Amino acid sequence: MTGKITGISGPTVITDIKGLKLYERVFVGNAMLTGEVVRIEKDRSVVQVYEDTQGLAIDEPVQSTGMPLTVRLGPGLLSGIFDGLQRPLQRLKEESGPFIRGVKELSALDISGKWIFHAVRKKGEQVSTGEIIGYVKEGPFEHYISCPADVKGKIAWIAESEIHLDRPIGVMEDGSEIPGFYDWPVRVPLPYKRKYSPTEPLVTGQRSIDFLFTIAKGGTAIMPGGFGTGKTILDQSIAKFADIDIVVYAGCGERGNEMAELIEEFEMLADPWTKRTLMERTILCVNTSNMPVAAREASIYTAVTMAEYYRDMGLHVLFLADSISRWAEALREISSSLEELPGEEGYPTYLASRLSGFLERAGVVETNSGKTGSLSMILSVSPPGGDFTEPVTQSCLRTSGAFLMLDTSLAHRRHFPAINWFQSYSLYGAELLEHHAEKFMPEWEHALSTCKEILQKEEELREVAEIVGVEGLQDADRLLMHTAEMIRMKFLCQNAYTDDAFSPPARTLSIIKEILDFYKTADEKLKQGVQLDEILNEKKNK
Ligand SMILES: Nc1ncnc2c1ncn2[C@@H]1O[C@H](COP(=O)(O)OP(=O)(O)OP(=O)(O)O)[C@@H](O)[C@H]1O
Ligand SMILES: [Mg+2]
Repeated sequence: MTGKITGISGPTVITDIKGLKLYERVFVGNAMLTGEVVRIEKDRSVVQVYEDTQGLAIDEPVQSTGMPLTVRLGPGLLSGIFDGLQRPLQRLKEESGPFIRGVKELSALDISGKWIFHAVRKKGEQVSTGEIIGYVKEGPFEHYISCPADVKGKIAWIAESEIHLDRPIGVMEDGSEIPGFYDWPVRVPLPYKRKYSPTEPLVTGQRSIDFLFTIAKGGTAIMPGGFGTGKTILDQSIAKFADIDIVVYAGCGERGNEMAELIEEFEMLADPWTKRTLMERTILCVNTSNMPVAAREASIYTAVTMAEYYRDMGLHVLFLADSISRWAEALREISSSLEELPGEEGYPTYLASRLSGFLERAGVVETNSGKTGSLSMILSVSPPGGDFTEPVTQSCLRTSGAFLMLDTSLAHRRHFPAINWFQSYSLYGAELLEHHAEKFMPEWEHALSTCKEILQKEEELREVAEIVGVEGLQDADRLLMHTAEMIRMKFLCQNAYTDDAFSPPARTLSIIKEILDFYKTADEKLKQGVQLDEILNEKKNK
């Protein structure tokens, strides 16, 4: 169906096409800009255009597609760099130059590419939806091809060895085909059999997270922090060092040059766990601040659907977004252009439900093919003015399992990562700790409680010290203050630009143990009557 543009206001376009469905994808204007139907009225529909609408005019054509906004899922997404609509940026640049404008169709996958297929099912065998029929090797991973929805029965033909994605990989006896790739609506989570509660820690290589506020594989964490508190650096450090199979990084409304640096770095650096280049395990979905705002709302859905796709291979996938606040602002912009009733701070009233619906897509699941995969999420939040009572932080808080509060005063003191150890929390503690104890060392739990105690006491003593001065404190208290400082400076601080940027669990434990051992020995010496200054001098000379 086609119709005409009857009104334009920024990225919002009114059209007279009849029979459109909500969230249907349409092509707008002579430039064939991509848009999504966001409101339907009796004889007009409102379309949100995801590209720059400059130059668009009344009466230009609008074309419906009958399909919602989809992502293309198949082998070859890894190491891809896509925009918010899953268009591969490199090819987009080759086709339209650095200033992207209205490219109608550009497949995310190179569908003419060849792959070597290893069949695991044979001709004549019975298969049904979700079952794996074979795999291709994508980097270090086995990329499974499964039977799509509504296809079941006996296999009449199955490919051997070389396949082309644009041709079927298998044909059933009733003539239905098993394709190499498929398109999936971005706003619909990929189906799975069941969800489990997360039990395994996600090692991030950041001591303050791994030790104090463990995140789970399949869990969710939010990182709210004011301007310059280190959100981007922390997000990127986790993307580099996390013990995970695949990272999907959504650069949402942040600086373009930061993304460019990230891409350059990822092409050169190796994954510390597998020693392969980081880019091989990464998918980047970019909608930076210099790209059209409207596509930002869709971009996190595009990214998370790709993440779910790899989770369904039985892999551990980490989804990172920097920053979800920019996504919420895009949502607010769309909502206000639709003249919807605004809620708190102008955000639409459905902000909280949208956010929790999004965070719900994380989890450990049994996939339709019977494998276990996980999708973890870490979202950074940029609360305006560093005010954590604002709606985006509050809405995320309700559904996320860990809250890593980035503290402006710590960042000013150059304490990075600036995670506040009193205000942050993780709900994944207890059951995950058991796992730590098994896999790493039983001392973990003991060290954690001692460390927390010392930091807590330091806070209490700090107030006293402000009145009487540190010198006025008793030796035992001065020792505690000294130890707490060691914990802060040598353990919790981690410079992202040095070799210390990555701290595997064994190293994390050895550093904290060394500090706590010093404390224990020094405390015993104090009790035997040795002076604190003497103990500290001895340590300095060591
Ligand atoms: N782990 C770290 N090690 C050393 N320096 C750091 C670390 N984290 C942050 N910094 C310093 O803080 C600066 C700001 O960090 P970053 O850009 O990540 O902040 P941000 O919270 O993303 O800021 P914005 O709100 O502007 O996006 C960095 O340029 C760097 O100098
Ligand atoms: Mg940033």
